[in-house]
Amino acid sequence: MSERVALPQVERDPSLPEAITIYEVGPRDGLQNEKATVPAATKAAFVRRLVEAGLGTVETTSFVNPQWVPQLADAQEVLDLLGDLGRGATRPVLVPNERGLDRALEAGVGAVAVFGSATETFARKNLNRTVAESLEMFAPVVDRAHASGLWVRGYVSMCFGDPWEGPVPVAQVADVCARLRDLGCDQISLGDTIGTGTTGHVERLLDALEERGIGTDVLGVHFHDTYGQALANTLAALRRGVTVVDASTGGLGGCPYARSATGNLATEDLVWAMDGAGVHTGVDLDALVATSVWMAEQLGKPSPSRVVKALAG
Ligand code: HMG
Ligand code: MG
Repeated sequence: MSERVALPQVERDPSLPEAITIYEVGPRDGLQNEKATVPAATKAAFVRRLVEAGLGTVETTSFVNPQWVPQLADAQEVLDLLGDLGRGATRPVLVPNERGLDRALEAGVGAVAVFGSATETFARKNLNRTVAESLEMFAPVVDRAHASGLWVRGYVSMCFGDPWEGPVPVAQVADVCARLRDLGCDQISLGDTIGTGTTGHVERLLDALEERGIGTDVLGVHFHDTYGQALANTLAALRRGVTVVDASTGGLGGCPYARSATGNLATEDLVWAMDGAGVHTGVDLDALVATSVWMAEQLGKPSPSRVVKALAG
């Protein structure tokens, strides 16, 4: 008899929500750190394949200063190639400032994400601003985006540790989240940029946010997998009521302005865990793995995802 294809045996885990929303960041966070230029047509094909695999929300690209992130300098071209598939409230793009918003509006996007930092050092390195200055920079972006009918996400980086400053107090993170909420962001994504978070830390941060009136209904979690903790941390957040999880197909990712950042939680690892626990994601795991295998060929290097390695083998 031939070997059976591995699939997780489904045993419903009642501590987890019945369904989650995966916020796919592969085309943006996944590719922004790649040194070799990926052609716009490949990026557009990547987004298309992700949508076909069942991912509802896909962050497509960034309208940042192209000198800061040359890999995503072709944002407009990628959106042109995508046509309607790249527009709408479920295809956000990153914008840091009004210049980025102008470009995004011109491209016809339906959602944007501003990205702040819980620490001063990373705010300087990533945005060339203090934390306060970056929040001032975001204020008109959020207002104008809303006035144009766009959905707005606010990221907070370095929520669980900073490579220059070390530990980051949860109250400091909660302050920045509260500022983004007060600016009017529709959702706040908690970024573990360098992957140092652990489960108790996730709990403490969610406690601190709840005390500030920021409930799990407006939160997303964004774990990088540097230390192999991303899935455990995600499960901890889901058990507390979070239902939006950022992930990157194939486990691609990293931030060019934080060297210790490696790939995000691999979407395949998340989908495997959710499929086994009877949590609906809407994603076809086989189609996703095939996409990662294809993308690995384009990038000339294997996917770091354990699930991709196991299923693609
Ligand atoms: P700056 O150098 O201070 O910008 O950079 P500036 O306002 O002084 O402008 C300088 C020049 O850049 C001007 O041109 C602007 O027009 C131009 P000039 O007048 O000299 O010819 N410029 C732009 N051009 C196109 N698009 C724009 C834009 N903005 C200015 N949007 C800035 C400040 C914020 C722009 C810069 O620091 C930047 O682009 N940073 C982006 C860094 C980045 O993309 N990092 C990765 C994403 S964040 C991340 O990965 C973390 C996350 O995944 C969560 C997590 O893991 O924690 C989200
Ligand atoms: Mg990230």
